[in-house]
Amino acid sequence: MIRIENVSTVFDTGGQQLTAVDNVSLNIGRGSIQGIIGFSGAGKSTLLRNINLLERPASGRVLVDGVDLVGLTPLELRKRRHGIGMIFQHFNLLSNLTAAQNVELSLKFAGIGNSAQRRKRALEALEIVDLQEKAGTYPAKLSGGQKQRVAIARALATKPKVLLCDEPTSAVDPRTTASVLQYLADVNARFGITIVVVTHEMNVIKAIAENVAVMEAGRVVEQFDLSELKRPGFSPATSIGRYLVSDEIRLERPEAHRKGALHV
Ligand SMILES: Nc1ncnc2c1ncn2[C@@H]1O[C@H](COP(=O)(O)OP(=O)(O)O)[C@@H](O)[C@H]1O
Ligand SMILES: [Mg+2]
Repeated sequence: MIRIENVSTVFDTGGQQLTAVDNVSLNIGRGSIQGIIGFSGAGKSTLLRNINLLERPASGRVLVDGVDLVGLTPLELRKRRHGIGMIFQHFNLLSNLTAAQNVELSLKFAGIGNSAQRRKRALEALEIVDLQEKAGTYPAKLSGGQKQRVAIARALATKPKVLLCDEPTSAVDPRTTASVLQYLADVNARFGITIVVVTHEMNVIKAIAENVAVMEAGRVVEQFDLSELKRPGFSPATSIGRYLVSDEIRLERPEAHRKGALHV
């Protein structure tokens, strides 16, 4: 679903060149949940932003669903981006809009529907994260977990094939983390959306990812399938990889328990 080929991203920091992403290649399978883990400054967010070209790489190619985004015109790129949702650590909701209005606005930006259709689609998206009853609530009156669920609804409203998550649980408490991850896993199971989760939290990777890439200093230094963790004698190369092996905490992957109005 996503092919990252020899991507490098360089920032000019006051005359100095900083290579935030250093010749990274990564294949992410359709319908999979890919984790990207590393310490702060490893280049995770930059790599994630390379996938939807919020950050344009200095070199390399990014193919999403077979299309090389780097070669697109601005208009084509805008259209393609509707197929790539994104959520952030700090939710990025507009505080002067209700939950439903936040979702509707992203549909408006995407040029989807008239206002009645956008309202209907927003309520459907909020229903996926069990927040339909909060449609008229402003973000200030929502908990952190609820805000992130609104952000998930907003990302899903345009019916993306890919959902990019940048530290989706780093601003919420551990119990809320489990709930947010459960919704992400649920969305993956129900709609087959390919999910990429960037995090510095080991438990998040173990809870939700099927494959993990470990980043250090702009490079992917190790990749493996999480099922490898159970294989006797499996010996990761990096300290982060070894930490992941050291114990087993994993949420159950949920069954698709409801048939939603979106995507089906
Ligand atoms: N817009 C930017 N301008 C300059 N430097 C940046 C910018 N964004 C990120 N960086 C630098 O690139 C490196 C990687 O950052 P980032 O991708 O945010 O890492 P991570 O998400 O793993 O913490 C860091 O050294 C960071 O300071
Ligand atoms: Mg980051």
